Amino acid sequence: MNSLSFTLFIFSIIIFLQCLSSTGATTCHPDDEAGLLAFKSGITQDPSGMLSSWKKGTSCCSWKGITCLNSDRVTMLELVGFPKKPERSLSGTLSPSLAKLQHLSVISLGDHVNITGSFPKFLLQLPKLRYVDIQNNRLSGPLPANIGVLSMLEEFFLQGNKFTGPIPNSISNLTRLSYLIFGGNLLTGPIPLGLANLNLMQHLALGDNRLSGTVPDIFESMTLLKFLDLSRNGFSGRLPLSIASLAPTLLALKLSQNNLSGAIPDYISRFNRLEKLDLSKNRFSGVVPKGFVNLTNINNLDLSHNLLTGQFPDLTVNTIEYLDLSYNLFHLETIPQWVTLLPSVFLLKLAKCGIKMSLDDWKPEAPFYYHYIDLSKNEILGSLERLLNQTSYLLEFRVSGNKLRFDMGNLTFPRTLKTLDLSRNLVFGKVPAAVTSLQRLNLSQNHLCGVLPVTKFPASAFAGNDCLCGSPLSPCKA
Ligand SMILES: *[C@@H]1O[C@H](CO)[C@@H](O)[C@H](O)[C@H]1NC(C)=O
Ligand SMILES: *[C@@H]1O[C@H](CO)[C@@H](O)[C@H](O)[C@H]1NC(C)=O
Ligand SMILES: *[C@@H]1O[C@H](CO)[C@@H](O)[C@H](O)[C@H]1NC(C)=O
Ligand SMILES: *[C@@H]1O[C@H](CO)[C@@H](O)[C@H](O)[C@H]1NC(C)=O
Ligand SMILES: *[C@@H]1O[C@H](CO)[C@@H](O)[C@H](O)[C@H]1NC(C)=O
Ligand SMILES: *[C@@H]1O[C@H](CO)[C@@H](O)[C@H](O)[C@H]1NC(C)=O
Ligand SMILES: *[C@@H]1O[C@H](CO)[C@@H](O)[C@H](O)[C@H]1NC(C)=O
Repeated sequence: MNSLSFTLFIFSIIIFLQCLSSTGATTCHPDDEAGLLAFKSGITQDPSGMLSSWKKGTSCCSWKGITCLNSDRVTMLELVGFPKKPERSLSGTLSPSLAKLQHLSVISLGDHVNITGSFPKFLLQLPKLRYVDIQNNRLSGPLPANIGVLSMLEEFFLQGNKFTGPIPNSISNLTRLSYLIFGGNLLTGPIPLGLANLNLMQHLALGDNRLSGTVPDIFESMTLLKFLDLSRNGFSGRLPLSIASLAPTLLALKLSQNNLSGAIPDYISRFNRLEKLDLSKNRFSGVVPKGFVNLTNINNLDLSHNLLTGQFPDLTVNTIEYLDLSYNLFHLETIPQWVTLLPSVFLLKLAKCGIKMSLDDWKPEAPFYYHYIDLSKNEILGSLERLLNQTSYLLEFRVSGNKLRFDMGNLTFPRTLKTLDLSRNLVFGKVPAAVTSLQRLNLSQNHLCGVLPVTKFPASAFAGNDCLCGSPLSPCKA
């Protein structure tokens, strides 16, 4: 035997022995079997046959989704549904009899939209749990006040249910947590101050709830935090100082759609690893700190819908792919040179940024990457023609409420274009037949004239022009 086949031989013996121990020879512990069979009976529909191997009298350690590590006790229960095919997922409730599985350390029952009921309290009786995923089910009601008894828990996924009420204070006892993923529920009240204890936290996601109050000053010791999402809640007031302590590690800071106010703090200059910063739809005011030049890894920057003023600092980064500065009080005058030079932007939104240039003078470095452009509500002159000609992947171009003046009759579109909003400009000429390939079009309030091509767009897409006629407007005079 050469050494390779000897290795293979040994390897297959090991596999064979493992199969013996996990599938058949020993039956699983009777408590575990009973608990799992009771769980199965709480499931009313199992269209994809996830539980078809779960039969009384066969070793439960070999059932689908079950793992017994080194003994006859079940240590993992993993039955994740099908987020893209919800009709294949389980329906029913989570039986409290799972409390019999005293050695469980991993429970993963996410993505079953038709699993209903209240928070599964049996979890609190499982002292060895390290990983709990019950996200994207249809569970509801409050979180238990004594949730803090799950003291071994490292990762906790509750996102996308309908849990209500406050985040229990006892959460501060879950000091091993590194993932706390509670987004997309109906949670209310403040962020418990005790979260400050959780200094192993890496991912804290509380977005899309109804939380309120100020963002507490709890981040000082969360030096491992990479991802912080508090967006779409009712937080108000200024950002706390301790967010600054996250600078060396934080990759994503998402605070959009709250009622946060005050200036963007100067300490932002320390976040040189930050890839994603979303402060949109708040009430941040004042000038954007010069320290933004230090965000040298920023990929996704959204400051839209705030009250920011003045000039924007001249960045030198070339990592930005998504940039939205729309709807502030900026007076940029032109599309900044650093934006024009970005090598791989796919989304650029500079609506209502006080831009007064001609589009003919804008020569972006890499126009063919652009997928989304929004320059609405500025004072932009000139023609779309050259820019549209240079893009290859453009899906959406919005430039309503400007002073563009060109002959539309000659316009050609990239094949990818789906949305074109040119409303409220000074565009003249005919509407070209090419618009029939679009899904959304708005040419209202321009100086267009002539017979409309046959389209499905409503009359409001063409209203307020000089002399357009034909369906959906009134018929042309013969
Ligand atoms: C969920 O349950 C409802 C009512 O029992 C049913 O109408 C619906 O089709 C189910 N949805 C899925 C994705 O199984
Ligand atoms: C945390 O656990 C300790 C010890 O088990 C307990 O005394 C304390 O009340 C718990 N804290 C909270 C906020 O529940
Ligand atoms: C947002 O905060 C302002 C004060 O900064 C307050 O006047 C306003 O009522 C708040 N809005 C909401 C929706 O909470
Ligand atoms: C950028 O960061 C460096 C230290 O890394 C600091 O010295 C400098 O002041 C920062 N620049 C700005 C504009 O804050
Ligand atoms: C658009 O591109 C076509 C073909 O590449 C070229 O013939 C035409 O002159 C271009 N138009 C403008 C305005 O650049
Ligand atoms: C548009 O097309 C018309 C006729 O096809 C031509 O006379 C006119 O010069 C063109 N305008 C521009 C700006 O290319
Ligand atoms: C087009 O824009 C005008 C004003 O900009 C708006 O009133 C109208 O509803 C829009 N129509 C469509 C179809 O988007």
